[in-house]
Amino acid sequence: MAHLLVVDDQKSICELLEITFRKEGYRVETATSAEAAMRRLQAQIYDIVISDLRLAESSGLDLLKYTKEVSPSCFFILITAVGDYEDAITALNYGADRYVRKGDKLTEELRQVVRQVDESLKLKKEAGYLRRELRKLTGLDNIIGQSAKMRALFELIHTVAPQTSRVLITGESGTGKELVARAIHEKGARAQTPFITINCGAFPETLLESELFGYVKGAFTGANENRQGLFQAAHGGTLFLDEIGNMSLTMQVKLYRVLQERKVRPVGSTEESEVDVRVIAATNKNLETEIAEGRFREDLFYRLSVIPIHLPALRERREDIPLLARSFLDRFRKAMEKPVDGIDPEALRRLEAYDWPGNVRELENTIERAVALETGRTISVSVLPEKIASFVPGQAVRTASEAAWPELPQEGMDLGQHIQGIERKYLQDALVRAGGVRTKAAALLRMSYRSFKHYAKKYGV
Ligand SMILES: Nc1ncnc2c1ncn2[C@@H]1O[C@H](COP(=O)(O)OP(=O)(O)OP(=O)(O)O)[C@@H](O)[C@H]1O
Ligand SMILES: [Mg+2]
Repeated sequence: MAHLLVVDDQKSICELLEITFRKEGYRVETATSAEAAMRRLQAQIYDIVISDLRLAESSGLDLLKYTKEVSPSCFFILITAVGDYEDAITALNYGADRYVRKGDKLTEELRQVVRQVDESLKLKKEAGYLRRELRKLTGLDNIIGQSAKMRALFELIHTVAPQTSRVLITGESGTGKELVARAIHEKGARAQTPFITINCGAFPETLLESELFGYVKGAFTGANENRQGLFQAAHGGTLFLDEIGNMSLTMQVKLYRVLQERKVRPVGSTEESEVDVRVIAATNKNLETEIAEGRFREDLFYRLSVIPIHLPALRERREDIPLLARSFLDRFRKAMEKPVDGIDPEALRRLEAYDWPGNVRELENTIERAVALETGRTISVSVLPEKIASFVPGQAVRTASEAAWPELPQEGMDLGQHIQGIERKYLQDALVRAGGVRTKAAALLRMSYRSFKHYAKKYGV
């Protein structure tokens, strides 16, 4: 229930209101002067302040101003003298949320107002709570996926976001590392603070140093003024160090020291300043290999990867391909205002079979291109790039790892029928690829000609 602060220079009124509201279950504290109230406001967070306009030594308006300064969301109720309209208007002009007139009905009116405010506070809290819960269920706004691997990732993001521990995100190119870094920032306590990104691979060493740590006037030719670095700019927030695997060894040493001491020294300066920054780093390199080959410092690696997050390649979670493809289709058809609203089953099969070395980014680009080229209503094989349209799954997929198989649906499934469906599909595929020559098709499936004939008859292929 709401937390109240009652302020009146008449002790008896304080006591009366305290008793009244305590009986209703609120937490109540009192103060008999504006000064005492301000001290309370420094120490405590109140939901509602009820104050008399006329206090012995200062005005309730001073207290009002102070309250809105230190605690803007606090609801402020001013008690004004009977019939004094001018006071009432002043109160509202000063930002009071309500005024209540002194008189017989004072406590009754205050009770009503406080009850309303308390109700709306509860609704607000509930709405916030529900929104957070809903987000947990539906994953993260713009990160799409429903495979077990992605659900585990959502869970992990929700767990690490509220903390400030460093995170190291690894994964192949296009797997969504930047997306995940942003999500961690946005789900965390620092959501309202800056999220600053830098691609460490895109700068020569000296430039990267002054970008990250800033410089002072005269540090080098061209340094005509003091310049803040990204570490200082991200103070209180998150700094995303992308492509950390491309950072030079010298810079790695400097970064290590900053992480260790939480202080940065601008180029050319002798002074260090403290920074409070959550660091999230990402790389598509295998840092263990980089360490083994002397290109990445082991001490920095351990500093950065307090919480390691590895993003699975798209081919390790093919179940997500249809969902991703459809959501990209939706986005591009709207953007291009084209009447393409589906994906032809055969085209979808090719998309699911392809091994996506460029991961989600490649899928995104493929769909964009397909939407642009398609003249019909559904995306067909003909608008897919040749390498995808004609993709032959390699050995690795034929000895399919379990990850490549669809998950057992929630409601269960008819396994016999499912397997028959698979047999039928591959029989057909083999026949097509063998150009209708059945002995060749049988060989493709490592079957005897007799078994092939048996199955072909069974499925009417
Ligand atoms: N799970 C996902 N849901 C929706 N879009 C995604 C997903 N994963 C990646 N994308 C999209 O794919 C593209 C690549 O993602 P991102 O830039 O985060 O990848 P990356 O891992 O940082 O790649 P690189 O290593 O090449 O920088 C972006 O357009 C992003 O929006
Ligand atoms: Mg990236």
